[in-house]
Amino acid sequence: MKYGHFDDKAREYVIETPKTPLPWINYLGSDDFFTLISNTAGGYAFYKDARLRRLTRYRYNNNPLDQEGFRLYVREEEKAKENKNNKPLIWNPSWQPVKTELDSYSCRHGMGYSIFEGQKNGIKVSQTMFVPVSENALLYHVKIKNTTKEKKSIQLFSFIEFCLWDANDDATNFQRNYSIGEVEVHGSAIYHKTEYRERRDHYSVFWCSRKVDGFDTDMDIFNGPYGSASCPDAVIEGKCRNSVAHGWRPCASHQLNIDLKANEETTVTFGLGYIRNKADEKFVALDQINRQKAEEMMARYDSDAKVEKAFKELRKHWDELLSHLQIKSSDEKLDRMVNIWNQYQCMVTFNMSRSASYFESGMGRGMGFRDSCQDLLGFVHIIPSRARERILDIAATQFVDGSAYHQYQPLTKRGNLAVGSGFNDDPLWLIAGTDAYIRETGDFTILDEMVPFDNDESLAQPLMEHLRRSFNYTVTHLGPHKLPLIGRADWNDCLNLNCFSEHPGESFQTTGPSEGPVAESIFIAGMFVKYGKAYEAICRKLNLTDEADNCATHIKAMEEAVLKAGWDGEWFLRAYDAFSKPVGSHNNEEAQIFIEPQGMCVMAEIGKETGEAEKALNSVHKLLETKYGVTLNYPPFRRYHLELGEISSYPPGVKENAGIFCHNNPWITVAETVLGHADRAWELYRKICPAYIEEISEIHRTEPYVYSQMIAGNASPRFGEAKNSWLTGTSAWTFLSISQAILGLVPDYDGLKLCPCIPSWMDGYSAKRLFRGTELNIKVERANGNEKGLWVNGEKQKANIIPASKESKAEVLLRI
Ligand code: BGC
Ligand code: NOJ
Repeated sequence: MKYGHFDDKAREYVIETPKTPLPWINYLGSDDFFTLISNTAGGYAFYKDARLRRLTRYRYNNNPLDQEGFRLYVREEEKAKENKNNKPLIWNPSWQPVKTELDSYSCRHGMGYSIFEGQKNGIKVSQTMFVPVSENALLYHVKIKNTTKEKKSIQLFSFIEFCLWDANDDATNFQRNYSIGEVEVHGSAIYHKTEYRERRDHYSVFWCSRKVDGFDTDMDIFNGPYGSASCPDAVIEGKCRNSVAHGWRPCASHQLNIDLKANEETTVTFGLGYIRNKADEKFVALDQINRQKAEEMMARYDSDAKVEKAFKELRKHWDELLSHLQIKSSDEKLDRMVNIWNQYQCMVTFNMSRSASYFESGMGRGMGFRDSCQDLLGFVHIIPSRARERILDIAATQFVDGSAYHQYQPLTKRGNLAVGSGFNDDPLWLIAGTDAYIRETGDFTILDEMVPFDNDESLAQPLMEHLRRSFNYTVTHLGPHKLPLIGRADWNDCLNLNCFSEHPGESFQTTGPSEGPVAESIFIAGMFVKYGKAYEAICRKLNLTDEADNCATHIKAMEEAVLKAGWDGEWFLRAYDAFSKPVGSHNNEEAQIFIEPQGMCVMAEIGKETGEAEKALNSVHKLLETKYGVTLNYPPFRRYHLELGEISSYPPGVKENAGIFCHNNPWITVAETVLGHADRAWELYRKICPAYIEEISEIHRTEPYVYSQMIAGNASPRFGEAKNSWLTGTSAWTFLSISQAILGLVPDYDGLKLCPCIPSWMDGYSAKRLFRGTELNIKVERANGNEKGLWVNGEKQKANIIPASKESKAEVLLRI
């Protein structure tokens, strides 16, 4: 069952009913100011950091769900006269929170914008929401049309609820919060200035382009003592109270009384902006904030033409971003994912890491070290300069010994002390991210950038030294089998081999000794071989031959260690626990096989020549694969294993306990291409790919246009149900698996390598790829008896690599 459809031409997903299985959201904003917005206009806005600079309030885990947002209420009084119970007609163009049945409804989620259209009783309201490029504001451009033949008088009310900036404090510290809220109202602009008087240099403003007929800023007055967002007193009575908040719960509502002739349409723009002022320019008088920048902002959008122009610019912005890779194949679903939604999700995950979604409150985790490094793999081709900046930020949180803070806060860019370090895969991801950047751009100068350790400038070293310490961290942290020590956890945060968390409330990852001298990870071993080779290649490019040779020796030793101590007979072992007992072995009762080492070791080509790689993937197919994707382990844990940790805390079939953890499915896809299994790779790609499972939206439940972190595995009664949509490494990795491993467009140091491993049903495809300033028009076709090879502008090349060039365009033909 579907709840909408893709409109590829407009690059939109069109939702046709507000009653989707879960709120289906979109992200607005691409630099500093962001808004999460659901298909019923629920959501919230923040500046840079969803915890520390939250503009509007959101209650997660609310019942009903998704009540707070960017609300518009339409109220029609005439109806009252026809109505026996004398109630006015009140409705929201986006259905929630009043939930009056609409005569028609749609929500179009597009690239950085969402358009809601609701119709009731002859009034049609469309609400286009977007954050203009490089603006710290959310706009709603609203059109109201009387589609009837009679004149109508309606009222429109806006409503948002302010968050008192620190979202965590806002949701917990009521004894203070209820006394600090402050606003100022000037004409149609409502200023939220809580804490501005003292330590903050920022305020927000919620404005309206028309002269208002009333306003409210005190939520308890707007809603009424026992009212709620679904039946606010002010809307029911058709009259705001012009309340000025003093403590309690500041909000903002504008009241507009609108008369419309038959068929008349009118427009209004609402805006929610974030303003910063210099310390000595904060006030113009006692109790009067300096509104100059806000007024300038409002003036930038004070006509329909200006708002429409900003919207057009946003669309152009996205045309440009997506133009770096566009393909054309015979499968529209594939084209849709590659050209639109997968790249879009890569941009969003790059911006958010794992901080703010409808499953991550934005108050907890900040940016993940390994997450952000992996996000680069899917983002670097879109805006390489921002990738560069991100790499330097992440590297600055690394410790002198090469280990790293597991998370950091986007606003302060400081490592998160509460979680600390000790996740022993983290350092190697820095090599992965940096290597991807260099391959995309050819910019080796990034390696010379001076980057602090632990954010301490006095400890700054060139980025290359950071990578060296990443590599050496593994070399110097080996266990009894000469395999890497796992520390608190590796990629699988829930495999906590040194933690022994016994009591409720203890962190699974940081309890107990957390790091031990014995527990080892075969997954990190695979990573070390894969990304160690990348580091070795960089050393060679820099003519550091001795160092490169030394790397090669360590990598070879690691391969040997994996084949000796990390092989279980039919698949790679997962780990050795703190007692040096094998994890992920046929001798175990539960979880005999895990997906991660099969994916990573085969991607690293361990056992490719000697047959282990082939066997490992066969075992994945046999034991882990289901119709909805590949599960993480088999059999699932049914008992809690103190020595394994959080992984065994989840019910069988969900999350890291035998869920289809989408992030590592593309590892198997890529691994299959390493062995040349094109059809298997395609099959795996397709299984979890949103566009191909849109038809089972009632089972899948999360948005059909983006990947989710997890789909329940076959051990779960809710097999096929997804959770944690949007912010997941799945996005970058599936993009890599399709664009590089399957379609074969692989950025390399000296040019773009072409090595497709396309499924047998596919005759070929064409692609436009903007690579280091050159627009490559690529055609890939099967040779069908003709000469195979690569031609660039008609010239046959010696190898299948398009050399980087200064030309603005090149025609490329690859026959396979
Ligand atoms: C989740 C993991 C996550 C970890 C750290 C666990 O509860 O299952 O997916 O990485 O928490 O936040
Ligand atoms: C989600 C985390 O963000 C990611 O870093 C981790 O690798 C996976 N969970 C697996 O545990």
